[in-house]
Amino acid sequence: MTLHIGAAAGDIAPVVLMPGDPLRAQWAAGRFLEDARCVNRVRGMLGFTGTWRGNPVTIQGSGMGMPSLSIYANELIRDYGAQTLIRIGSCGAMQHHVAIRDVVIAMTASTISTPSLGIFRELNFAPCADYSLLEAAVAASRAQGARTHVGNIYSSDVFYDERPDLTEQMTRHGVLAVEMEAAELYTLAARHQRRALAILTVSDHLLTHEALPAEDREQSFADMVEIALEAAFA
Ligand code: HPA
Repeated sequence: MTLHIGAAAGDIAPVVLMPGDPLRAQWAAGRFLEDARCVNRVRGMLGFTGTWRGNPVTIQGSGMGMPSLSIYANELIRDYGAQTLIRIGSCGAMQHHVAIRDVVIAMTASTISTPSLGIFRELNFAPCADYSLLEAAVAASRAQGARTHVGNIYSSDVFYDERPDLTEQMTRHGVLAVEMEAAELYTLAARHQRRALAILTVSDHLLTHEALPAEDREQSFADMVEIALEAAFA
């Protein structure tokens, strides 16, 4: 047990999938895992452990934003020994060639988040994905037939952003999409020598203001869970 996770030692698998929404964790565990059991209920941030093709897997909600994800990822890594952490989530597209429903796999995640600034000071540390996971996830996503983009994303601290100038600069510099967690996950994985990846589906578009219809969200999420599982055990 840790401050925020009620699981017993040994209840967390070396491979952890992290959706933002705890109810998505519950849904994915029911749909994809054999013998799934709930291992965390603290603050309603549900986590489940079961097996996929005989391999143990935990699916643990991260909550929204880097401060929340950071709490769960820190405890999963430091207290439960998680080795492979894959975020599955949604993002807002920042390029015209990236469309609603496309899959974005984050090679690197830019951020102006303060924990990193505090640690690295004058260094612009570039949080990056684990290459073996990245390569396997790209292959799995393309095998599914998904339009798949690989590159830089932006991990923002705010959903309701007040810096259109910054968004414009990032779009100019090829940043594919915005979300709110990956940079912290990648930084923690680097600090503790673990493997991390963020696999995202485009749920809204910052340039065209389109949004993924609610009825398509479940299928997009299921596709990401499959990509993540294939990548974790490739
Ligand atoms: N901004 C930040 N995070 C997001 C967005 C967005 O537009 N869409 C999905 N996650």
